Amino acid sequence: MEESLQAVREEILGRIGHCTTDQEIEQLRVEYVGRKGKLTLLLRGLKDIPSEQRPQRGAELNELRGFFEAEIEARLKALKRGEKERILREERVDITLPGNRSERGGVHPLMLVMDEIIDVFLRMGFEVARGPDIEDDYHNFEALNMPKDHPARDMQDTFFVSGDHVLRTHTSPVQIRVMERRKPPLQVIVPGAVYRHDDDATHSPMFHQVEGFMVDSHISFSDLKGVLTHVLRQIFEEKAGVRFRPSFFPFTEPSAEIDIQCVLCSGRGRTGEGQLCRVCKGSAWLEILGAGMIDPAVFRFVGYDPEKVSGFAFGMGVERIAMLKFGIEDIRLFFQNDLRFLKQFR
Ligand code: PHE
Repeated sequence: MEESLQAVREEILGRIGHCTTDQEIEQLRVEYVGRKGKLTLLLRGLKDIPSEQRPQRGAELNELRGFFEAEIEARLKALKRGEKERILREERVDITLPGNRSERGGVHPLMLVMDEIIDVFLRMGFEVARGPDIEDDYHNFEALNMPKDHPARDMQDTFFVSGDHVLRTHTSPVQIRVMERRKPPLQVIVPGAVYRHDDDATHSPMFHQVEGFMVDSHISFSDLKGVLTHVLRQIFEEKAGVRFRPSFFPFTEPSAEIDIQCVLCSGRGRTGEGQLCRVCKGSAWLEILGAGMIDPAVFRFVGYDPEKVSGFAFGMGVERIAMLKFGIEDIRLFFQNDLRFLKQFR
């Protein structure tokens, strides 16, 4: 016999021991048990040896082949384990290194105030509705009792978009949109952005309003008074004085402007040193709301019978309320995204 099987076995062990990659092992597999592999040829040679030796030799060769396969599997496993260990070793993350902290954001002060206002109304059973920022002439003006040539349209400093469309100048068009779709009783607020061509320390071309309205069969001016007095005292101070002055809006009749006692000087008009209060300019009152009983003409536009339903509506400026609550003197601060400003409200 050319080569003792013991020698082949030792050779196999040596060769496998030197393999360091899967490819080398694959190579070895071909070399030994491939079509022209060493073990393959030995097995094929069985037919040439005397038949009385064949069973013994066959058994030995099969055992050797099994040994080869087992050793190869074991080596593959060992290589894989070694690779895993290498990755764990080399790619170890140093968890003691300080990471990059991401800064915690905060809610914008305007949205804080908006949410607070919304909460007051939700507790009173109002629901929230929204409408489009780009509004058509009909909803922004016409159905609110402002026909094409109505002088009240001039007060609104409208941004025109194209043809029949404008950036809504107030949230009142959403009154129309809700009433068109639904029947009383309604108790709805509409928070949202509005737009007017106006830009100085107390006016921004984009600002926010919370509109509200209540419609049912017997809503009276005293409901308006009760609801809004309660709301203002929730938003400002429980004991703050509230004042109703006659006013005009085309979509309410009668209309009122509602003032609250100055939050800085508590309605005295002057500071402790006798200086004019810089918030109310000595008037002791701050105008905070426009409101009124919904005009019968508006009800007719949405298909309600003004003989059967009545209601009140109001609109308030969120920026103005936030400025008064926080003592902010320039409305532009809200929109400049200066973190030194925004961080103060966290
Ligand atoms: N829409 C009015 C404005 O923007 C406010 C208002 C709303 C007045 C509802 C009365 C009723 O000035």
